[in-house]
Amino acid sequence: MDIGIESIAFYVPHYFLDMRKLAEARGVDAEKHVVGLGQEKMAVPPPGEDVVTMAANAAERALETVDRDQVEMVVFATESSVDQSKAAGIYVHALLGLQPHCRVFETKQACYAATAGLQAAAALIARRPKMKALIVAADVARYGLGTPGEPTQGAGAVAMVVSADPKVLVLEPESGTYTEDVMDFWRPNSRDEALVDGKYSVRVYLRALAAAWKQYSEESGREFTDIDRFCYHLPFTTMAEKAHTQLAKVSGHRDRSPEQRQRDIADSLVYNRIVGNTYAASLYIGLTSLLENAQEDLTGKRVSLFSYGSGCVAEFFSGVVPAGYRSALHAAAHREMLDTRVELSYDEYVDFYLRYLPKDPENWEFPAYETGSFRLRAIRDYKRIYERAT
Ligand code: CAA
Repeated sequence: MDIGIESIAFYVPHYFLDMRKLAEARGVDAEKHVVGLGQEKMAVPPPGEDVVTMAANAAERALETVDRDQVEMVVFATESSVDQSKAAGIYVHALLGLQPHCRVFETKQACYAATAGLQAAAALIARRPKMKALIVAADVARYGLGTPGEPTQGAGAVAMVVSADPKVLVLEPESGTYTEDVMDFWRPNSRDEALVDGKYSVRVYLRALAAAWKQYSEESGREFTDIDRFCYHLPFTTMAEKAHTQLAKVSGHRDRSPEQRQRDIADSLVYNRIVGNTYAASLYIGLTSLLENAQEDLTGKRVSLFSYGSGCVAEFFSGVVPAGYRSALHAAAHREMLDTRVELSYDEYVDFYLRYLPKDPENWEFPAYETGSFRLRAIRDYKRIYERAT
């Protein structure tokens, strides 16, 4: 029985900042952002947009072609959650009107959390082939104004329906995992912004990649050249280039030409370049980017996925693209969403940033901005009130 991704869709806020404008405001060369980090635009959530609204928007699209009554599990992966107790997925479950006989829970391990949900869902479906699982990952990446991490911010959500009818990607069972207790990136409960040891985090990412690959290749018997396309967790776009160079090196393919290496990864980077880091969602927005932007037919091609969550947990696994995958994608809707976004001035970006949400407000009303189909309307007596946007 094949198990994997039946449908995949993503959502990003309606507003973005051009990275050249951020560079100008910070007095750095724009090429550092655009070429050095590979970021052209950064998604910025307006007040009233949070992980729940973004996830609900992505999930609504992913479920368009799916029988919702078969969804028996909703996993919400995030590191920017809205409550310490209640799973954000319960709001999504309600907003989408899913049937009540459903397991709903939240997973956390930095940017790795969606992969944990995906693998857990695949294992459960092996025992219960008629069920479908909705995996949503949503995050707002915030480092702080003027910090080195600022140009690697972003926001967005991805939703995947996992089932025994995988129209988009058939998951292969082999994987390599790696865990190490490191402080490369973390966010204490008292803070809205992440703390990060930036250069160290890049080094740990590469170390985790080498370790996870080693176990994957030993377990599967596959080599670097058995993989046709490579998707990596994307904190910033050029991280994929560093990762792919590392993988070529540790797998004995140091001589792979720069052109070939670009071809291996380029299609997976198109969306990240104009969205920025979406933490738990970013690997899977990268997968969507590959499937929707590759000119060549990917039918039968093997795609690898490297998931990295700081702290850290990593996993290297793979899947094969089934025939007919293109008709299961939402490429036109994604393109329209990205093309109709509104550009912010630097001052508007700072205003949105500062009005993100005061810490633990008891009561708060949100002005109406463009937020897709769902918005956070208010907080009353510490309770979040979501609604369908008119
Ligand atoms: N023209 C072209 N390139 C330029 C340039 C210019 N004028 N100026 C600088 N560059 C290049 C640099 O050479 C560098 O490239 P290399 O790494 O290939 O050498 C790149 O632009 C970035 O420049 P710096 O290294 O000087 O940038 P920085 O010191 O300001 O920090 C960063 C970069 C560490 C990534 C920082 O943005 C950061 O801390 N980001 C958050 C942490 C992060 O994203 N870590 C990634 C791994 S952890 C993870 O993956 C989990 C997660 O999601 C957070």
